[in-house]
Amino acid sequence: MTFDWESLKAAAEEAVTHAYAPYSHFSVGAAATVDDGRVVTGCNVENAAYGVALCAECGLVSQLHITGGGRLTHFVCVNGDREVIMPCGRCRQLLYENGGPDLQLWTVSGIKTMDEVLPDAFGPDDLD
Ligand code: THU
Repeated sequence: MTFDWESLKAAAEEAVTHAYAPYSHFSVGAAATVDDGRVVTGCNVENAAYGVALCAECGLVSQLHITGGGRLTHFVCVNGDREVIMPCGRCRQLLYENGGPDLQLWTVSGIKTMDEVLPDAFGPDDLD
């Protein structure tokens, strides 16, 4: 059966309504499926000390772990206009850690693997 990307995007669209972005006015919502079927989400949370803003993916990864862990299998993030956007560089690293090279992402240029959006990634294996 083909993966239901639209339902996952709907979860990201719900998440973006909770964003706290009074400084950049750029809201982000992220959603991912976990290998046990769970869906985890996150929204960006900014701060008066601009540099400590939390990306939506940070909340998503925290929710992944607090709800039982597992591996991310599919991911999408959207802006406040419900448009698909790319995860920033730091967040690609967060996603790589928790999904690995085969994680599938809905990107601005279609469905891609984590290996395509973060090639030759530094990861847990490099610490062996
Ligand atoms: N942002 C995210 O939440 N995730 C990303 O992958 C890209 C950037 C947020 C951070 C900041 O609150 C706002 O978008 C503008 O950069």
